[in-house]
Amino acid sequence: MEDELSLLEKDKEYLWHPFTQMKEWVEDDQLIIERGEGIKLYDTEGNEYYDGVSSIWLNVHGHQKEELDEAVIDQLDRIAHSTMLGLSNKPAIELAEKLVELTPEGLNKVFYSDSGSTAVEIGLKMAFQYWQQIDHDFGAKDKFITLTNAYHGDTVGSVSVGGVDLFHEIYKPLLFDSLKAPSPYCYRCPFDEEKESCNFSCIKELESMMQEHHHEVAAMVIEPLVQGAGGMIVAPDGYLAKVRELCSEYNILLLADEVAAGFGRTGKMFACEHEDVRPDIMTVAKGISGGYLPISATLTTDEIYDAFYDDYETQKTFFHGHSYTGNPLAAAVSVANIELFKEEKIIEKMPPKIKIAADKLAEFRELDHVGDIRQKGLMIGIELIEDKETKEPYDWKEKMGVKVAMKAREKGMIIRPLGNIVVFMPPLCSTEQQLLDMLEIIYESIKEITS
Ligand SMILES: Cc1ncc(COP(=O)(O)O)c(C=O)c1O
Repeated sequence: MEDELSLLEKDKEYLWHPFTQMKEWVEDDQLIIERGEGIKLYDTEGNEYYDGVSSIWLNVHGHQKEELDEAVIDQLDRIAHSTMLGLSNKPAIELAEKLVELTPEGLNKVFYSDSGSTAVEIGLKMAFQYWQQIDHDFGAKDKFITLTNAYHGDTVGSVSVGGVDLFHEIYKPLLFDSLKAPSPYCYRCPFDEEKESCNFSCIKELESMMQEHHHEVAAMVIEPLVQGAGGMIVAPDGYLAKVRELCSEYNILLLADEVAAGFGRTGKMFACEHEDVRPDIMTVAKGISGGYLPISATLTTDEIYDAFYDDYETQKTFFHGHSYTGNPLAAAVSVANIELFKEEKIIEKMPPKIKIAADKLAEFRELDHVGDIRQKGLMIGIELIEDKETKEPYDWKEKMGVKVAMKAREKGMIIRPLGNIVVFMPPLCSTEQQLLDMLEIIYESIKEITS
């Protein structure tokens, strides 16, 4: 007990946690996770919890998955890291081949980094430099279109194309300008349209923006189908395909940020597949390594790659790279992760799981303070509201999402909310029964906290 206490004291003495008001962290009691097994996490006191948000949207096959553990150990027997600057390595090559096979047709080149944010940052620089290096009839194409409620990471470039004011407002003086089109947030439609008689006004506004600014826009950046951190906002059917069409029409590159939605979360390997969309640039991270090690990739087309491919003296090199770019350990576990997707038929097994979750979620509608329930595959957001009739939100200071998450913790499950949105994003390997158990905990927690 003394050791455990001192561990927590050391945490509070030395650590600064992400997205955390440290005053609250230090004043409150905290959990320290010691190990994981399957979809359960175990703390230093021996308590077990369902990992209800896949350790922040990463985990796919569960913790301590034998095949993934072995892939890391096997690679450790060879080498943990060597650089991609001027050298290559076997797992990075193997993974690149697999990624090209797996992603939408035409994405033929893979550029590695180590987080979702850096993958986006790379995509932005690639798009910007592409337009500098090809002949075209426009002026400087150096702007980006993004959506309100967008989240693409926390580096300055990825924050510049973000649209979550709570996270991004304070950094404004540091950011480059981006054009913000309205998010397809149907429950709180900025055009006051009813879902049933939707005129796609958000798309019309996007189109006007493109009409006016296409000559100066390098790329449109979008989280395909689901705006995750902005509140699990699910775009209506056909929205993404329309965005693709408009980008092609107005000569704007489409950067699809699959960091959250990719690797099966929406029920297909990549969200773009639902609407047969082929982006010009695609970012993947999180689930790429099954939630084991930090690695990400920015994929692009031959056309973009070729704009950088020239004699050294032309100075068209893509000047970007990180110390851990193409890390062999992370690449090796990612290769094993992709093989497991196939062997265990993860995607094929998803439809009944998605359905069972949808059926259980339908019961949540009877709760007085559940306003909207959004689901795409196993990406789920439950919006809590003060008043169901008026859609009046809870005051953010009431921290309803946090209270529900803490109640769920008491009942044996870890979830992390986004403001008033309760997020459920379980590991894809969860069984139907486990999904039901976890949803029951969420149901009971919402009921107890809001009544
Ligand atoms: C869509 C999207 N893009 C980028 C990121 C940033 O990824 P990372 O936290 O690995 O930098 C996230 C993280 O949640 C995300 O959801």
